[in-house]
Amino acid sequence: MALLSIRNVFKSYFLHGKRIDVLRGVSLDIERGELVSLVGASGAGKSTFLHVLGTLDAPAAGEVLFEGRSVFSMNDAEIAEFRNRTIGFVFQSHYLLPEFTALENVAMPALIQRRERAGAYAYARELLERVGLGQRVDHRPGELSGGEAQRVALARALVLKPAVLLADEPTGNLDPATGEGIHQLLREVNRELGITAVVVTHNETLARSMPRRLRLAGGGVSEA
Ligand SMILES: Nc1ncnc2c1ncn2[C@@H]1O[C@H](COP(=O)(O)OP(=O)(O)OP(=O)(O)O)[C@@H](O)[C@H]1O
Ligand SMILES: [Mg+2]
Repeated sequence: MALLSIRNVFKSYFLHGKRIDVLRGVSLDIERGELVSLVGASGAGKSTFLHVLGTLDAPAAGEVLFEGRSVFSMNDAEIAEFRNRTIGFVFQSHYLLPEFTALENVAMPALIQRRERAGAYAYARELLERVGLGQRVDHRPGELSGGEAQRVALARALVLKPAVLLADEPTGNLDPATGEGIHQLLREVNRELGITAVVVTHNETLARSMPRRLRLAGGGVSEA
């Protein structure tokens, strides 16, 4: 059974009396342990797709199945519980908490889950070192560069060792070398922690370095 299945998913936005059909019947299986890149033009619907896949946004029609179970048939509290437990999300905008340091931001999901504090901070620090920010743990988001903030957001998404990592352009603000370092880290967490990951990127070279490649165009997803 696939870890994640998307079955005939439709998603539209309605704004100022106009309808924008973004996802038009997307079906797809993602197996446990896969590392997948997703490319497509700006506005094609990559973020929309990731939000539906990550249960942040319900589709207008169709189903998202996790291990065969339809996630949107659960109630809101159950969906939120499922999401917190299962999915690590790196948003296109980082959404770090401005009044907390990088270290506190990364540890936060673990502290909210009432994990043991010293262990949570130790693992948060280790993750920050792995994204190259061992010297920035005490900086607040306003005291970080855009790319550094994105790397903090990636570390935060990994702190609970989620089954699934959904990353929306985690290397969007990074120079090529740092971007390649982040993709290297994604390959490592995929291999070492068995985290299944879908990574949106505009960088074709990095996209091609992923074992499976998807392209979103015309409201549909195809293997690229
Ligand atoms: N809340 C919204 N209301 C109305 N339209 C929206 C909304 N969010 C997104 N859209 C539209 O839906 C389309 C898909 O948006 P989406 O953010 O998924 O694109 P994307 O592929 O992630 O683009 P980018 O590469 O620029 O991040 C776009 O045309 C966008 O203008
Ligand atoms: Mg986007």
